[in-house]
Amino acid sequence: MIMKKNKMKISFVLGTRPEIIKLYSVMKAAEVHKMVTPIFIHTGQHYDFEMSQVFLEELKLPEFHYFLDVKSGSHASQTALLLVELEKTLMKEQPDVVIVLGDTNTTMAGALAASKLGIPVAHVEAGCRSFDMAMPEEINRLTADAISSILFAPSEVAALNLLYEGHSQDRVFFSGNTVVDIVEETSELRKSMKLDSTIIEEYDVVVTIHRQENVDHEKRLRELIVALSEIGGKVIFPIHPRTRKRIEEFGLMDLVESTTNLKLIKPLNFLSFMKLMEESKVVITDSGGVQEEAVMLGTPCITARDTTEWPETVWVGGNRLAGSNAMNVTKFCNEVLLRSKTTTKKSMNPFKGNAGTSIINTLVELWQTGNLGLPRPDMSDGKYPLPTLQGKSHQLEKVYQTSLEFDKNGNAIINRDDSVNNKVVRIPKRK
Ligand code: UD1
Repeated sequence: MIMKKNKMKISFVLGTRPEIIKLYSVMKAAEVHKMVTPIFIHTGQHYDFEMSQVFLEELKLPEFHYFLDVKSGSHASQTALLLVELEKTLMKEQPDVVIVLGDTNTTMAGALAASKLGIPVAHVEAGCRSFDMAMPEEINRLTADAISSILFAPSEVAALNLLYEGHSQDRVFFSGNTVVDIVEETSELRKSMKLDSTIIEEYDVVVTIHRQENVDHEKRLRELIVALSEIGGKVIFPIHPRTRKRIEEFGLMDLVESTTNLKLIKPLNFLSFMKLMEESKVVITDSGGVQEEAVMLGTPCITARDTTEWPETVWVGGNRLAGSNAMNVTKFCNEVLLRSKTTTKKSMNPFKGNAGTSIINTLVELWQTGNLGLPRPDMSDGKYPLPTLQGKSHQLEKVYQTSLEFDKNGNAIINRDDSVNNKVVRIPKRK
């Protein structure tokens, strides 16, 4: 057993609203673990009070050790600045491992800066895929997964995606979903709280839309506002600063203000937003986290996108993708509003929790055994690591040996040797 120090240093790199919320249980677990010294680094990608500080305060998270004040910019300039600032900070801190989460520019830059310094990276929410390379988030996820040495998959599907991509089974951990942790942990608090009635009046539907593909094109944004105006119920929209900025730039504020059933409000703190979703009849969103939360709270969700990196939410019947036709948002929403809440069956929660503790315990174990980093390859004596595909069953406990062959057209054929059932199965090509 390799043991260097009494405590391992874990640096958390985060900078946006969803990263604070989704890393909450991991940060808490790190804080109380007696063998861990956590270092919290906020990149400042989100800097408005309502997008960052409010969550740190209400979730009683500790003071951040660093605030890098990177702010907004084009993808290239924001990422470049993130890399420069993170490199300086990580060189100073020399942590044993860096934790990043999800799919933001902060995630990708954190993983890149650390891995180039030879610091092992643990990616939480690894393996989520929308398979849509037009989304900056998909590029960020793929990059972070490719260079991380420890991959914490939040679901079985995410774990299988990683194994299909050829990540070694030793590096993929089925950790559960950190959103379950925070939703469960705050449920009592939500029961006892009341929404501020001066801001939030009567409403039926909650909307959050901020993704580049929905708000950066005038036509699409206009279509979405028109779609909201045709909903047969009152709509409340805690608006992301990016969306507000685009509405103003495109001169769409008059349209919003003339839409009598739609009310824009400032972004809310986490507990109020959860309570709002819990009490609403429908949630309309393009956010990944909100799809997960709505399904966990049992409120029907409509996603204003063509794809999702959370397919489980659709499979359990809690989420429906409206696709590129904005009027589907209206159609699907009105269908739910016409059904009474009592006849609408709550979908089950497809995710498992206790992820924060599981992630920290796994990291401590890997540190104690000297296995945080990736092993260095050895190609002496003509050895070469041929591509292998190592999969696991959906319970992730069976181990498969795989081999690769090529057909006469040069296409790869993967043979999976199911060692448990002692047979070879040919894996169909993924569509
Ligand atoms: C980022 C993530 C996205 C995530 C979202 C959650 C990337 C590429 N995108 O998107 O995956 O779902 O966070 O909110 O990392 N702005 C402010 N105040 C703030 C933050 C942003 O005014 O506190 C405005 C700025 O005008 C900025 C725009 O929002 O230009 C976009 O901010 P940015 O951090 O680039 O991405 P998000 O759209 O927030």
